[in-house]
Amino acid sequence: MRLTIFGSGYVGLVQGACMAEMGNHVVCYDIDEDKIERLNNGEIPIYEPGLEAYVERNVEAGRLEFTTDVKKAVDHGLYQFIAVGTPPDEDGSADLKHVLAVARAIGENMDDYRIVVDKSTVPVGTADKVKAEIASQLARRKLPLEFDVVSNPEFLKEGAAIGDFMKPDRIIIGTDNPRTTELLKTLYEPFNRNHDRVISMDIRSAELTKYAANAMLATKISFMNELANLAEKFGADIEHVRIGIGSDPRIGYHFIYPGAGYGGSCFPKDVQALAKSASDAGYDAELLKAVEAVNLRQKTRLFEKVQAHYGGELKGKIIALWGLSFKPNTDDMRAAPSRVIMESLWDAGAKVRAYDPAAMHEARRLYGDQHGLELCESALDALDGADALVIVTEWQEFRSPDFAMLKETLGDAVVFDGRNLYEPSTMEAHGLQYYAIGRGQT
Ligand SMILES: NC(=O)c1ccc[n+]([C@@H]2O[C@H](COP(=O)([O-])OP(=O)(O)OC[C@H]3O[C@@H](n4cnc5c(N)ncnc54)[C@H](O)[C@@H]3O)[C@@H](O)[C@H]2O)c1
Repeated sequence: MRLTIFGSGYVGLVQGACMAEMGNHVVCYDIDEDKIERLNNGEIPIYEPGLEAYVERNVEAGRLEFTTDVKKAVDHGLYQFIAVGTPPDEDGSADLKHVLAVARAIGENMDDYRIVVDKSTVPVGTADKVKAEIASQLARRKLPLEFDVVSNPEFLKEGAAIGDFMKPDRIIIGTDNPRTTELLKTLYEPFNRNHDRVISMDIRSAELTKYAANAMLATKISFMNELANLAEKFGADIEHVRIGIGSDPRIGYHFIYPGAGYGGSCFPKDVQALAKSASDAGYDAELLKAVEAVNLRQKTRLFEKVQAHYGGELKGKIIALWGLSFKPNTDDMRAAPSRVIMESLWDAGAKVRAYDPAAMHEARRLYGDQHGLELCESALDALDGADALVIVTEWQEFRSPDFAMLKETLGDAVVFDGRNLYEPSTMEAHGLQYYAIGRGQT
């Protein structure tokens, strides 16, 4: 089948590669000329395990192409996927300018029936806006062409995106027309071999399902962070509490890790956007606002621990920092807790020696001229000359360090762990002072 995907970022590129892998002919379109040029030169602009091999294989087979030619893009696919960004606007709402620009481009260029499939995360009612935009362009061109708009939100996780796309938990198809449900089911058939994962529903419910999923996951995280802060006040250990509640199958072990707060391109903006949509609809979404507020506070907790340890005297301190991406296995630093912590350390006069296995280029892009930042070659290199270590992202390579070496290297022999990677007793046995999240200290 022939597909066009608008937007070649984390979602669009993964979808393009996976759809091509199944034998479809995919054209990926992006307005970012530099990105398309890099892709055409065989360079993958993002870090996503397994993606490079998929792209390489399918480009070679002629099933995957990248273009900035919008006419070619609209002409190519019966299916026109929208996978562009929906960043937060100043008031927290989802900014639809990229989504509507794609709708306009489709309406301006289509010469035949098209199914427009929205994969971007968009507020309820966006499909109507996309429809109106395409219809107005067709009216302007005096071309009475048929088209359908479908909501097909994406649930992949950065860092595991290929696996998630190839074996999705569910494929949500929101349509107002049985014909498009069937066309979408046919397209997704290869992803359904094991069992049918398609859940079809009306468009508005599909749009809301995506926000509901992210808001639920964000709520679990903020809940555990709130409990972790309470555990500190009460002298309890949140790690025992976590195991204790996770054993209840109604709660489960997933997504109840306390930490330095959630980040990334989805949870923060989606919780905010849903709260804003609620308020626009005359509903005060108190729980969602609290989830967001708890998370913002949590992102400052690690820094507060550093500051308290040093009695507010951070000027001239050198802090090693492990982990810049918002979670392991990605280079994405959007809304990452590391940014809040580094910026607070700089404001307090400390210097940061940072290392991340994948996000160094992103850190250089964001903070290249920040004189308080030294980007280091390795986790070990980051420790060189440092007084303390702060761990922000739970990359596997940080899980089992040489504790004796840490004690010897760190000037003040102190570790601040935003991901609870180590046992406090192990740290104590090695003579290291250890601050974790929700494990006893305030
Ligand atoms: N990143 C994730 O893990 C994830 C998961 C599920 C859903 N989503 C949602 O999917 C959408 C895309 O997210 P992403 O992380 O891939 O974003 P991204 O920022 O990585 O990529 C978006 C791409 O769209 C391109 N673009 C912007 N305007 C365009 C236009 N008019 N025509 C063509 N391309 C255009 C940009 O240049 C960029 O390359 C968002 O709505 C996001 O919330 C993201």
